[in-house]
Amino acid sequence: MSLLVLMLLLFWECPTEASVPPVISFSPNWNPVVVDDSVTLTCNLDPNPEGEKRYSWYRDNRELSHYEKNYTIQHCSSNDRGNYQCQAGASEKSDAVRVDIGGPIVLQAPSTVREGDSLSLRCQSWSKDRFVYVQFYKDDTVMQPPGTGSVLQAGKALRSMTGTYRCAKLFDKHVTLTYSPKTFIYVTGAGIKPVVSINPEWGNILLMDSVTLSCNVEPTIQESPRYVWYKDGDWIREEQKNFTVKYAYEKDFGNYQCQIPGSERSESVRLDGKSGDFILQAPPTVHEGDLVYLRCHRSIKFLKSRLNTQKNITLHKDNEFITYSVTESPVLIGRADKNTSGTYKCTLVNEPRLSDELVISVTELFSDPYIKVNPGEVLKGDHMTITCDTKLSPHRETTKLQFAFYRNGHNVQGFSSSNQYGVPSAQLEHSGNYTCEVQTASERVRKMSNISHISIVARNQRVQNTVRLVLSAVIFIITLCLPFYHKKTMEVTYSQVTEKNR
Ligand SMILES: *[C@@H]1O[C@H](CO)[C@@H](O)[C@H](O)[C@H]1NC(C)=O
Ligand SMILES: *[C@@H]1O[C@H](CO)[C@@H](O)[C@H](O)[C@H]1NC(C)=O
Ligand SMILES: *[C@@H]1O[C@H](CO)[C@@H](O)[C@H](O)[C@H]1NC(C)=O
Ligand SMILES: *[C@@H]1O[C@H](CO)[C@@H](O)[C@H](O)[C@H]1NC(C)=O
Ligand SMILES: *[C@@H]1O[C@H](CO)[C@@H](O)[C@H](O)[C@H]1NC(C)=O
Ligand SMILES: *[C@@H]1O[C@H](CO)[C@@H](O)[C@H](O)[C@H]1NC(C)=O
Repeated sequence: MSLLVLMLLLFWECPTEASVPPVISFSPNWNPVVVDDSVTLTCNLDPNPEGEKRYSWYRDNRELSHYEKNYTIQHCSSNDRGNYQCQAGASEKSDAVRVDIGGPIVLQAPSTVREGDSLSLRCQSWSKDRFVYVQFYKDDTVMQPPGTGSVLQAGKALRSMTGTYRCAKLFDKHVTLTYSPKTFIYVTGAGIKPVVSINPEWGNILLMDSVTLSCNVEPTIQESPRYVWYKDGDWIREEQKNFTVKYAYEKDFGNYQCQIPGSERSESVRLDGKSGDFILQAPPTVHEGDLVYLRCHRSIKFLKSRLNTQKNITLHKDNEFITYSVTESPVLIGRADKNTSGTYKCTLVNEPRLSDELVISVTELFSDPYIKVNPGEVLKGDHMTITCDTKLSPHRETTKLQFAFYRNGHNVQGFSSSNQYGVPSAQLEHSGNYTCEVQTASERVRKMSNISHISIVARNQRVQNTVRLVLSAVIFIITLCLPFYHKKTMEVTYSQVTEKNR
């Protein structure tokens, strides 16, 4: 029985591998590249696929006619500047990496810098003139006394090293320093994953409506001067944190993602739209616990054509009347739970042609929790750890959860941020029916796990159990082998018989 549970848990742990996009690496790993130098971009797919693959390369979302794993730019010029993506076979497109080209003097850093990497900076110039000294600056402050080496080992990258860098060289024949342009270095860390928001927050709009998309990072994380935006996986020409689509066209509808250079890409957020004069609007995703607003919205063209006619707008859910209004103000439906899912409909009284329907399905904020016990079989005196496992919706990964534990319905650990309950030395009386409960800090969403029966086993009992297990294994093997044995003897008998008959 416990073996079965263990096997189930093992399968549970198996990651469900989605198609992982490739990652572009630089060789040599310096960016910006100095004019006339060369650089090789490699399209790395992990795990490395067997056999030949056709690779595709894109610069600023234009396909390049190059189909190999490596893309080498010889004698870089400003034409090679751009945002590169690659694709291996039918994989998704990689994150976009920007290749900057500079000169006569540039401050170079690795193309992406992750927390904990050892960070080196290089002051590179195309001039082969001898120089007297090199100076590095971070946020306009001198980093250390001038030296004669072009490379500065800045040590282990910390998030606080994010900033604007530049360098300067004093050449032999010059009297003044020659400064590089500024380079912004963003030290990304695990867990930097922005969230795309739409403002106003409707996931569906009418053609020619205006909408703003924002790339949000947690307030504790430093903003970047540059953002990378994707639509349907393709790099798009937007570098701001916010961008506004003033008049939406069909080409603007799709799945949007953003990132800070080198960070994880956000979950994608869908912006949908349709032509026409009337639409029921809802947020792109509705999670349990959200306050849900809906809006019945008419096009500007329609409003202009029917000046001064205040029409009654009604909202229905699953064909039942909810409310009516004469303005377009969003209507509060309530806090989302599973019952909020349904088909909603806006109609305009006396305008039979005008109505719009939308299916809303509420997404789980976090999955039903379940209990995991470590070790699988708890012996008397062992340290027992009970873990309460759940998974947050990828759109709401930063939600803070609280966990509580119960044995036979009695609380053994109140709500706290720890998803573990530990017993240093388990005794028989710690056996029982365990459940755990998970809630959001705001207490708006709360879920209880199924019962998990845990029995603490005395050590001598374990020996008995082992003996039982071994015995049953032996019996199992015997019963398995018996038919074969039987078959064999029958064959032997048969051949003996035929032999006799001869
Ligand atoms: C691709 O480039 C890398 C780095 O320069 C190099 O190590 C590798 O051998 C190249 N592979 C091919 C197939 O050219
Ligand atoms: C981006 O948009 C949000 C709301 O949409 C606004 O609060 C914020 O000030 C904007 N930020 C910038 C940098 O424009
Ligand atoms: C709008 O419809 C509701 C319900 O059908 C009705 O009670 C109300 O009088 C109507 N209001 C207007 C301004 O037509
Ligand atoms: C959903 O509706 C059903 C029946 O109307 C009700 O019994 C149940 O408690 C509701 N669930 C929630 C989470 O409100
Ligand atoms: C534990 O749950 C089982 C059924 O799930 C029940 O038969 C048993 O009585 C419960 N034990 C206690 C101590 O509540
Ligand atoms: C809890 O038990 C129910 C009914 O046995 C089952 O359908 C559900 O999958 C269980 N939930 C979890 C998280 O294991």
